[in-house]
Amino acid sequence: MKTILQAENLEKSYRVGRVDVHALRGVSLDVHEGEFVAIMGPSGCGKSTMLHLLGGLLTPTSGRIIIDEEDLTAASDAARTDIRRRKIGFVFQRFNLFPTLTAEGNLRLAERIQSDGKGDDPERRHEVLRLLRLEDKMHHKPLELSGGEQQRVALARAVVTRPAIILADEPTGNLDSENSAIVLNMFQELNYRFNQTIIMITHNPEAAAMCRRIVQMRDGQIVERTAAVHIS
Ligand SMILES: Nc1ncnc2c1ncn2[C@@H]1O[C@H](COP(=O)(O)OP(=O)(O)O)[C@@H](O)[C@H]1O
Ligand SMILES: [Mg+2]
Repeated sequence: MKTILQAENLEKSYRVGRVDVHALRGVSLDVHEGEFVAIMGPSGCGKSTMLHLLGGLLTPTSGRIIIDEEDLTAASDAARTDIRRRKIGFVFQRFNLFPTLTAEGNLRLAERIQSDGKGDDPERRHEVLRLLRLEDKMHHKPLELSGGEQQRVALARAVVTRPAIILADEPTGNLDSENSAIVLNMFQELNYRFNQTIIMITHNPEAAAMCRRIVQMRDGQIVERTAAVHIS
């Protein structure tokens, strides 16, 4: 099985005034292609910091990150941005959709931003919108959609360019239980159908239960790795 992500001994400190906050204290993680991994742990334990490092939004104080055979940590700022655009899809707790663009417009924008020339592809766009059951919503703007639908558009936007990895930071954090269930089912569907690799931070035990692997963090470290029960 192909290893799509390798994180080796990541450390990250934030300088706050004259104090260093050690957000990550030596985290190592290998993820195979097609895995669906949940990251859990108490608030402040370093989950978001780790996800931002894995996605190249932050640089580690020390350690190494290899994504799909490209070394993120050895790359220049410009090269790191380029790797991020080609290989990573982010889904955040806040949907971060462009309010003036339709659902499909938000996907087109994502296609334009990602830089490997796969560009504008209506077929692929519609396939993703169909898969996320948004085909009759594609001409709606974000404010004309429910929270769950907005998060599904954000998910569609993250996967439309078929990135190597989806990174999601509490993607159901702003949703009620019904919408959470729908969005989580969509993650699972993308994982099954496209063999899409997903790393998801969640506080929701039901969400974690659908992941093949659960990684528990505490105080900037991984304290437990559980192989979740396979449901098939
Ligand atoms: N930009 C920042 N500047 C300073 N400290 C930060 C910053 N971001 C996070 N931290 C600190 O790093 C630690 C880990 O934060 P975070 O990764 O957001 O944890 P989690 O996502 O698990 O809640 C916390 O102590 C937090 O206060
Ligand atoms: Mg967080």
